[in-house]
Amino acid sequence: MKMTKIYEGSYQWLMFGRDDNKPEKIIDTNQYMVRTASRCLLIDPGGVELFAPMLAAVLHHAPVEEITDLFASHQDPDIISSLGLWDQALPSAKLHASALWEGFIRHFGCESIEYVPIQDNGGVITLDNTELQVIPAHYLHSSANFNIYDPKAKILMSGDIGAALEEPGTPIFVEKFEDHVDKMRFFHQRWMPSNQAKRAWIDRVRDLDIDILAPQHGRMFKGDDVKRFLDWFDALQVGVAV
Ligand SMILES: [Fe+2]
Ligand SMILES: [Fe+2]
Repeated sequence: MKMTKIYEGSYQWLMFGRDDNKPEKIIDTNQYMVRTASRCLLIDPGGVELFAPMLAAVLHHAPVEEITDLFASHQDPDIISSLGLWDQALPSAKLHASALWEGFIRHFGCESIEYVPIQDNGGVITLDNTELQVIPAHYLHSSANFNIYDPKAKILMSGDIGAALEEPGTPIFVEKFEDHVDKMRFFHQRWMPSNQAKRAWIDRVRDLDIDILAPQHGRMFKGDDVKRFLDWFDALQVGVAV
């Protein structure tokens, strides 16, 4: 599992992914960690298959008792099917995830971890002095779906929005936006069901100051490529790949 530091200030954002030992047939995923003085939030910690390499990678950067919070952008197996294993490794942790999906996500196993339900209008996750905003992204692609925005680091973790299907070992950031579009088109047309939801989300995030847009699959977007992505997504008809 490779680690890339994407923000370093009084706290850090780390990205984990591009695991050389990942089983071939599972989709590649990006996991993120926000590390403050005494707490860590794992954002979309991943599937069962990824639990062991993720735990090992995370413990390089924080002691187990400081891994206090998990966040699931939505209910998918590649996002949070590892929950039952984290539940054994981190019995005092909290899971921040959709209230609507609680009864479903608990099927992955949530005996000891505290499920903190996120209401439809989002909220805030506080880690020491750092406040992370939970931004609604419903129907993109899940019926109750959230992003994490950090106004200080200017990072928007966008879940499946901005995802691309890539070769193993692909670079961490988009290098040439025009070349990247072909890797995103089918994914967004097929997985994102609603143009109306897409428009509402774009209106919401255009007002945010974003340096890095960080999806759960494929490369991150930096600087002007964030706006290029929003413009491209705005113009794309979704829910039409039938
Ligand atoms: Fe998903
Ligand atoms: Fe995903």
